[in-house]
Amino acid sequence: MADAPSDRPAVDTINELLAAAIQAPSSHNTQPWRFFVAADHIGLYGDRTRALPVNDPEDRELTISCGCALMNLRVAAAHRGLAAVVDHTPDSADEDLLATVTFGDGAAAPAVARLHDAIATRRTYRRRFEARKVGDEEVTALQEAARGEGAWLQTYRGVTPRQELAALVAEGDATQWANPSWRRELAMWMHPRRSGDGLTVPGLLAPVAHEVVRRFDMGGGRAARDAELAEESPLLAVLGTPSDEVWDWLHAGQALQRVLLTAHGLGLQASYLNQPIQVPELRPRLQDYLARDGLPQILLRLGHGTETLPPTPRRPLGDVID
Ligand SMILES: Cc1cc2nc3c(=O)[nH]c(=O)nc-3n(C[C@H](O)[C@H](O)[C@H](O)COP(=O)(O)O)c2cc1C
Repeated sequence: MADAPSDRPAVDTINELLAAAIQAPSSHNTQPWRFFVAADHIGLYGDRTRALPVNDPEDRELTISCGCALMNLRVAAAHRGLAAVVDHTPDSADEDLLATVTFGDGAAAPAVARLHDAIATRRTYRRRFEARKVGDEEVTALQEAARGEGAWLQTYRGVTPRQELAALVAEGDATQWANPSWRRELAMWMHPRRSGDGLTVPGLLAPVAHEVVRRFDMGGGRAARDAELAEESPLLAVLGTPSDEVWDWLHAGQALQRVLLTAHGLGLQASYLNQPIQVPELRPRLQDYLARDGLPQILLRLGHGTETLPPTPRRPLGDVID
């Protein structure tokens, strides 16, 4: 039986947990989360003022991003010796409330606590990987990380499947870049570093990059580059869930972050090739390709990086706490 939740930890500890939570990845680095610190729990809310209506019309990736933040919070709590008890999408009149976290006196999960060091150093690594293969043991550890959070991870290391998935990614790029609304939305989240969110562009270049992305369909070049990156990545992995409800997305987010932290601990880097999931016509084709039950939520490429990347910006903690 679960331990009865006790009172909330001290304010300093809460701040430490939330500082870990906001280091999570999020689509376009929108950081679409808010935290309500109550007397006996923390509430996690999706911040829909930071939604991406063109790229993510159902707030699926927004919810996945919040799930990543929730995973970081759980890891930081376990690292502190606290057993976090999560109530997912509790019955509430408020659909923005995604989860509440209380703190029990039971044992903190050691497998989760071990992921703590990777929170601060994990990065989205969009560059080329070394040619070095990803081994069976590493693949098994990543699959177990996803399974531990109620998701699955289907992996591909062979040349042919990587080429086939790369073709779907390229098709997704072409569709997205041909859509002026999609480009405008992307441009809106291209910010100089000081803004604390969005996809970072060096200060002086920001207005130029903004205009170029907004005005020009660069889908052809982007498709070729992403297809090459996908084909040459040692490992492609599709993370999926049994169905496609808010509950699944929140679990997908926790699974994604657990996979990313586990990968980082194994010396692996990862980035995203989500286009075949984001483009509505391509998602059923990817689903057919996977030939299994459930829905694809995230497509990752993984391998060994060659460089250490600086952290991307985050908003101050005070901006996301109520
Ligand atoms: C649900 C989700 C979807 C994402 N989709 C993409 C994507 O399609 N392409 C991409 O390059 N990065 C994608 N990212 C990565 C974010 O851009 C990245 O997390 C953010 O810029 C912060 O950088 P960091 O991960 O290095 O901390 C995604 C992240 C999340 C959580």
